[in-house]
Amino acid sequence: MAERRAYRWPQPLEGQPSKIWYGGDYNPDQWPEEVWDEDVELMGEAGVNVVSLAIFSWSKLEPREGIYDFDWLDRIIAKLYKAGIGVLLASATASPPMWLTQSHPEVLWRDKRGDVVWPGARQHWRPTSPIYRDYALKLCRALAEHYKDNPAIVGWHVGNEYGCHNRFDYSDDAMRAFQDWCKRRYGTIEELNEAWGTAFWSQHLDNFTQILPPRFIGEYNFMNPGKFLDYKRFSSDALKAFYVAERDCLQEITPDLPATTNFMVSAEGSNLDYDDWASEVDFVSNDHYFTPGESHFDELAYTSSLVDGIARKEPWWLMEHSAGAVNWRPINYRKEPGQLVRDSLAHLAFGADAICYFQWRQSRSGAEKFHSAMLPHAGKDSQMFQDVCELGKDLELLSEQGLIGSKLVKSQVAVVHDYQSEWASEHTATPSQQVRHWSEPLDWFRAFADQGITADVVPLAGPWDSYQAAVLPAVYLLDEANSQRVRDFVQAGGKLFVTYYTGISDERDHIWLGGYPGSIRDVVGVRSEEFAPMGQGEGCLDHLELSNGAVAHDMADVITSVESSVRILASFQAPKRTGMDGLPAITVNDFGEGQAAYVGCKLGREGLDKSLPELLEAMGLAASDENASGDLLRVEREGEDGVSRFVFFFNRADHEIEATAEGEPLMASLAHVESGRAKLDSNGVVIFKQDL
Ligand code: GAL
Repeated sequence: MAERRAYRWPQPLEGQPSKIWYGGDYNPDQWPEEVWDEDVELMGEAGVNVVSLAIFSWSKLEPREGIYDFDWLDRIIAKLYKAGIGVLLASATASPPMWLTQSHPEVLWRDKRGDVVWPGARQHWRPTSPIYRDYALKLCRALAEHYKDNPAIVGWHVGNEYGCHNRFDYSDDAMRAFQDWCKRRYGTIEELNEAWGTAFWSQHLDNFTQILPPRFIGEYNFMNPGKFLDYKRFSSDALKAFYVAERDCLQEITPDLPATTNFMVSAEGSNLDYDDWASEVDFVSNDHYFTPGESHFDELAYTSSLVDGIARKEPWWLMEHSAGAVNWRPINYRKEPGQLVRDSLAHLAFGADAICYFQWRQSRSGAEKFHSAMLPHAGKDSQMFQDVCELGKDLELLSEQGLIGSKLVKSQVAVVHDYQSEWASEHTATPSQQVRHWSEPLDWFRAFADQGITADVVPLAGPWDSYQAAVLPAVYLLDEANSQRVRDFVQAGGKLFVTYYTGISDERDHIWLGGYPGSIRDVVGVRSEEFAPMGQGEGCLDHLELSNGAVAHDMADVITSVESSVRILASFQAPKRTGMDGLPAITVNDFGEGQAAYVGCKLGREGLDKSLPELLEAMGLAASDENASGDLLRVEREGEDGVSRFVFFFNRADHEIEATAEGEPLMASLAHVESGRAKLDSNGVVIFKQDL
């Protein structure tokens, strides 16, 4: 992983104080100019102080090859600047114009069957095309030259959600770039053969030119897992290299403008390794769209905490979220009353210093006309716009109170998230398709929250070993170095929770031998010989009961031996024929100065809720304070001056809850504070300020 760039945050416009940035994507080019004045006026009403501009404007900025038209952009930027609104200017390369793809169809990406992905939407370009790069960098250069002295520009919004649609390209350009990538990674073809296990199924390669992208191999066939994992790494790197080229081109001309690109971090699967990408941005920014249903708030909290972990606790930018419904799910649920404000404040609580939306004004035509926006079709006379204005006021107040620049207070518990484990565990030739890395970390985050503990979500390469306790939730890939970190952590007194499907393979996806979890068996003191997946077929094992009342689904380990230092907290109770009856399910081992718990099955949030109290006690980690109820999520930010602390309480329950007030109430949404008690409706939030 590259060394991280120094953190740099977009500075306020000249003469203005530092504020929480507030605004969204703005697409004035989709509207007649008459609308622009109203836009700027209403932005003022809403408290908007920043917009992202020109993200998809290439065809308007360069209508014909080499002919640029910045006039319209100059005009709107001037209006915005006059109104005190800063601009994050896009590199505008996310969607190439028709003239380009018509004269150079070889920039279009190809799917795994070799079919061309035609223009008609966006991101129809391949990151490894030298031709596309050339055109894109020319545009970057022209933009940077034109806007280098424009005082309205506060930073660069490079590209847009790289790899959202064009993650995997299987073209010949991609093939050549993949071959070079492999050469850099492995040095010799022998090393690569070893890493990919090509002795299997006669896949031996004589030289690097024989390397193909993982193109179509027929239905129901299985791609070499080592190669496929490397293709995911390569694809993330190829897009990153494209971003870096754009960034460098822009910053060569405008060295003082910080650059970012909007990540798509969520609890679920990911196209890119964002923890790795974070090394290349001046500040981290993220797009997040809510998960409808009962996990709405928790998934958002988990994701924000992960973004904070990716940003290594520096402030980060919420670049996009939605004021209401999106347009790209099969059913696009609206937000409930209060959720617009609550969601934004939750991102803020977890370290965002900028709250932005997709998008400012709801489109009238085009593929996103049903996507909500700050200013909806209904116009300013709408609940949505009122909520947007209320939020603007809240953010103004929080800025005045000194929230900006404060940092998310470190939790006692780190839940580890690992993109590489996610990628490796999503291969289709595994013990069970129900078992992947991503769902397990979220279950643990939620189960800790149920115990009144707000855990930090920390990437594997991050400082999880500086916490009092850490969870390795189905962290399938553990290389030698990380296995040693785990060992050192517990040896030195750390409290570790490890689940099934952790430490199974090394970074090449070669299994650690001798029994699972191969690379850290000594730390947890248990040895599993086999996986016992559970399913739903008649007569198949479909669940396992535990002696503590919890029920496991999807996956269990067949633990056949434990060290003498291990205490068994729960074992399986199952029909004799299954061979699982009486086998250990949850254990705690003393190792060095610390302890390592092992949870050898998938318990889900419910099973973890049943098991955690006893586990926490066994590990000396009980939650204690009065407000530590699972109905409340407590999140704290503290100023670097150490003078004030901001305490956020969110209602996680679907009924009213109470909490003891802590400090001076700053603001409340669907909540009120009276004689030292805070009452929060569902979706409610209160924020207190404490002097330290
Ligand atoms: C994002 C994208 C935006 C908009 C939004 C809609 O993925 O960056 O341009 O499409 O989704 O939710």
